Parts: sequence; structure tokens; C-alpha cells
Amino acid sequence: MQRLWKSTSARPSSACRHLLPTGREKAAFITAPPFSPPPNPPKIAPMTTAPRTIRQLTDTVINQIAAGEVIERPASVVKELVENALDAGATRIEVATAGGGLSLIRVTDNGGGMPPEELPLAVSRHCTSKLTDDIHDIRSLGFRGEALPSIGSVARLSLRSRPEGTDSAAEISVEGGRVSAVKPVAANRGTTVEVRDLFFATPARLKFMKSERAETAAITEVVKRMALAFPHVRFTLTGSDRNTLELAAVPADGEGLLRRIAQVMGRDFAENTLPIEAAREGVSLSGHASIPSFSRANAMLQYFYVNGRPVRDKLLTGAIRGAYMDALPRDRHAVAALFITLDPALVDVNVHPAKADVRFRDPGLVRG
Ligand SMILES: Nc1ncnc2c1ncn2[C@@H]1O[C@H](COP(=O)(O)OP(=O)(O)O)[C@@H](O)[C@H]1O
Ligand SMILES: [Mg+2]
Repeated sequence: MQRLWKSTSARPSSACRHLLPTGREKAAFITAPPFSPPPNPPKIAPMTTAPRTIRQLTDTVINQIAAGEVIERPASVVKELVENALDAGATRIEVATAGGGLSLIRVTDNGGGMPPEELPLAVSRHCTSKLTDDIHDIRSLGFRGEALPSIGSVARLSLRSRPEGTDSAAEISVEGGRVSAVKPVAANRGTTVEVRDLFFATPARLKFMKSERAETAAITEVVKRMALAFPHVRFTLTGSDRNTLELAAVPADGEGLLRRIAQVMGRDFAENTLPIEAAREGVSLSGHASIPSFSRANAMLQYFYVNGRPVRDKLLTGAIRGAYMDALPRDRHAVAALFITLDPALVDVNVHPAKADVRFRDPGLVRG
């Protein structure tokens, strides 16, 4: 007993002994020259010489800060603009892009439009037609009132709109935060939003963009993801990025959903799925999930929606994994498009600036 105690305390156990320096390493450590700063230290002014007065930031800078979170890449712009078109009740949404969305993104819809006098509000921060004073009752995709001003602060944005039932159309533009006057134009019913030279005003962000092809692929993915949740809307994707997509409108019923799934996720998935239909305590789940013999090497083809909003959610991914546990090997993943519907008050969608995550008030109920 005595010996054992002695030997373990005297030297580390053999399992971790290799972490200690060897004699030669110890010698090198002792003879190493003291730390000296690199020859060209970065020129950052120390805080003590920076201006000490507290100032209100300009609107443009405030919007650029928001844009840093909301507009990560061209696909984020497409997501925000398509959400706006859907919130406006559009049944036809056309997206055109060039240069991986960095040179051009144009989204045209046939929705309710905006009257000329509202255009300056649409591009102002914290202005929205969607939220009342109740943050717990969100029934639209947008609610933060910051997408358009954010985009306008980092790109050249123009908004042209003609509301339903009038013939007065108007246009407004914002370039790197500078807002133009509203001018009358001729336009069809609905709204066209054009974004050119994304991130020209924030070159640091521009440096983080991937190849045009990768940005184009991300845009296509965003359109597909939105399109799955809105089968009755016709979506097209065109432009010089050659990522053409044409999704005809289909009825907003189970049959229609299966047709949209086939359009977006491929006919082979549509032919190898089982319909899912479940409801309990005010939460309903519907959609399609693959039969076990139809699986993928990653979870990319798992689409989740909460009240029509596409979300990434670990809880839902985990629930799928659990459901297929006995049927699929660990490295295979089911393919699924699942729609959860519940009272908006039971889910917090105000968790992430890009509205990509949600938090359930009762996670256990949803997981089950
Ligand atoms: N395509 C559109 N059709 C009609 N109205 C729109 C459209 N896009 C934006 N708007 C109006 O501009 C407002 C601001 O849009 P946005 O900055 O995306 O904020 P949010 O969508 O959170 O309200 C919207 O609330 C809406 O009233
Ligand atoms: Mg919006």
C-alpha cells in the first residue's frame, strides 16, 4: 500500500507522462531568447488616445452594424426580399441574379405593394407594417423592420412599387445609406426590389465572399427552401448566374405539397416518402419523410418549418435521428420536409437576427 502511494505521487502515471518536457526540451526552453515583439506591429491606436466623448452613431453606421448580422452574403438578401414578397401576399415571385448575387439581385413580386408615401419608411430602420405592439404574436416572416435599411447601407438598393387598386407607382433608392427622393415611375402592380454592388460600402465583408458559383448555389438553396413552404406561389430564378429554376404554382393541399416536393427535392424523393400527419395539444406536424431505404450521407436534405418559416433546429434534427434510430445506420440521414404548426405565442422567433432559429416554449411537446 505504502509503495503504491509513493510510486504514483512521485511520477505521473504512464498515461500522461509523454506530456512532460524531455530533458532536451527543458534545456531549449531555458535557453530560448526572451519574447520580442514582431518587427511591424499592427497600427492600432491605444484606447487612451481615442476620442473619449460618447456620440450617437449615424443612421448609416447603425444600419451597417445591423447588416453585419442580417446580411451575411447574397443569399441572405434573397431570403429577406423573398420573405417580404411572401408577406405582401405575392403569388408570383421572380428572382434574377448576376455575379453570384454580388453584382445584381432583383426580386419582382405581384403582391400588395406600397404607396409612394410609404417608400421612405420602408427603407428606414425599425419601420414595419407587420408588427403591432405585441412581439408574442408574429404571423409574418418579417417583423424586425431592418432588412431594407440594412441592405441599403451596404449596397445600391432601389424599390419600385405600385399598390393594389391604384395606378400611382413610385421609386426610391438608397446608396450606401444615402436615401433619394421618391419619384413617380410606371410599374406593374406589386414591387420590384433591385440590389446592385452588394457590400461595395463594406469592403471588409466583400473579402469573405466565396466563389460566384458557391454564392449562386446558396441563393438557389434559399429559393428552394422558401418555395417548399409556399407551394401555391410560382417561383422563378433566372439571370446570368445560370441557376435557372422554374417552380410552377401548385394547389396548397397535400397533393400540391407532394408536387412541390418533387419539383424541389427531386422525383425520386417524392416517390420514396411517407406522408407524416400528427397532432397533439395544439401542435401539429405534417409533411413527408423518406422510407429508410432512401437516405443520404448528410442531413442537408432535411427541411424544417415552423409556422411556414424555414428554421435550422437541433431539436428537430435530433427528433428525426431518434425516429430512424433503429432503421438507419449512424452515418446515414433521412430526407424530410416537415412542417410544424402551433400557436405563434408558443414559439419565440425573435432569437436570431436572420430569423433562422426559433425557441419553443415547451421543447418536450415538440420533440415528442
Ligand atoms: N415586396 C414588398 N411588398 C410590399 N411591401 C413591402 C415589400 N418589401 C418591403 N415592404 C414593406 O417595407 C417594410 C420594411 O421591410 P423590411 O425592412 O424587410 O422589414 P420587415 O419585413 O421586418 O417589416 C415592410 O414591413 C413592408 O411594409
Ligand atoms: Mg422583411
